[in-house]
Amino acid sequence: MTREAELEKAIERLATDRATTDDQRLLQRAVLSGNVVYTVGERDVVVGEDASGSIIITGDHNNLSFSLTEELFDKFKDIIFPKPQGIAPPFPDLVFVGRDEALEIVKERFGIIGESGETSQTLVVRGFPGVGKTTLVGVLARDPELIARYPDGVLWTSLEQKPSLMSIFATWGRSLGRDDFLRIPTPDEAVTQLSEILQNRKMLLIVDDVWQTEHGALFQKARGSSCGLLFTTRLPIVANELASTETEIYKLPVLEEADALKLMRILAPEAVTRYEKECRELLSEIEYLPLGIHVAARLLREELRNDWGDEKLIKDLINDIKLGAAVIEAKAPIDRIEGENIPTVTALLQKSTDMLDEHTRECFAYLGAFAPKPATFDLRAMQFVWEVDDPKPIVKKLIDYGLLEPVGNGRFQMHALLVAHARSLLN
Ligand SMILES: Nc1ncnc2c1ncn2[C@@H]1O[C@H](COP(=O)(O)OP(=O)(O)OP(=O)(O)O)[C@@H](O)[C@H]1O
Ligand SMILES: [Mg+2]
Repeated sequence: MTREAELEKAIERLATDRATTDDQRLLQRAVLSGNVVYTVGERDVVVGEDASGSIIITGDHNNLSFSLTEELFDKFKDIIFPKPQGIAPPFPDLVFVGRDEALEIVKERFGIIGESGETSQTLVVRGFPGVGKTTLVGVLARDPELIARYPDGVLWTSLEQKPSLMSIFATWGRSLGRDDFLRIPTPDEAVTQLSEILQNRKMLLIVDDVWQTEHGALFQKARGSSCGLLFTTRLPIVANELASTETEIYKLPVLEEADALKLMRILAPEAVTRYEKECRELLSEIEYLPLGIHVAARLLREELRNDWGDEKLIKDLINDIKLGAAVIEAKAPIDRIEGENIPTVTALLQKSTDMLDEHTRECFAYLGAFAPKPATFDLRAMQFVWEVDDPKPIVKKLIDYGLLEPVGNGRFQMHALLVAHARSLLN
């Protein structure tokens, strides 16, 4: 039987309550390696509507897709990735491609697989805005090998820029069987009590989206000696401050080209079939960032749905996407909903640039205006653009905030979508 046929049979058995543990394992592996994905029928539907979607078995050229109701999808998720005990991160969608290596590295660093090198109980996953940090931890929390290592379950939270720490500690406390945490007067005291309870547990603590080292440090203090602690952050400076060694940091990369194309084919199959060459170029221009790929795919899908019968319109759109402007002005994918609002990509990127002082932000914006393709600069170019005697302190700050990256030999690089964002700041 081919791999596709095998997966298809396993899915059929699952849908009719005849799945075996082998089916469960097969499908787990297939989802974790992006060979089976789920997408809501139209990914731009309003969250919460009774949407139906499809399970897709991805092939090298063609995808096999079958429709399925939301209810059946929930069942599918629960069987393949049973919710861990405790407080699990959301697991909204199953389009998850290209992260085989990332999953492996995280498990190696925690000492769960492999024998090599230093292991640790704390890991900071850092990476560009929209590279997939939150998505990765959503999957990790349900990974069978991590669950086996931390059998007492998961405690998850997402901090964002102004976290309400006491209410997070109270929620964690409640999950650990303590109702009195809201009466504890200070975060410090709450952390002391959490650490006493966690001392005897094997749990995985997940703290997503840390913006301030001080916030992360509280969770570091709460961690029991048998617990694992996984942070994510956009900010290299926070990652460096939270980690005690270099091995405690994992920089999550953008997708490989083949995986980016695979994702595009799942999200906008018609666009890839009709304009494969242009889609490949487009992916290279947006530098394989998952957030950018989702948005670009949606824009293409919308345009093709209108089907004006005019090739030029679609090629124009592809060009606009390549320049980045069309992507950053568009709404983010629906899983990035905040309250009742789906922010634009610009709003997501702005969270990083809002952290800068005015002068540094201006310097960042100027880089956008002068950026070559791909956007790499050396110190002299930046000194010239900024008209300063010493560009190093500004460069350092941009690096600390994840807006510029050293690429060796005294050169620094800016991600394509950040270049587009920088340009939009100038206007
Ligand atoms: N491996 C992947 N396969 C498919 N889609 C992905 C993958 N990783 C992330 N995405 C999608 O890309 C978008 C951005 O991902 P995510 O929110 O996880 O990024 P992030 O790194 O947490 O961003 P931020 O820094 O803003 O918190 C989401 O819509 C998500 O569904
Ligand atoms: Mg995130």
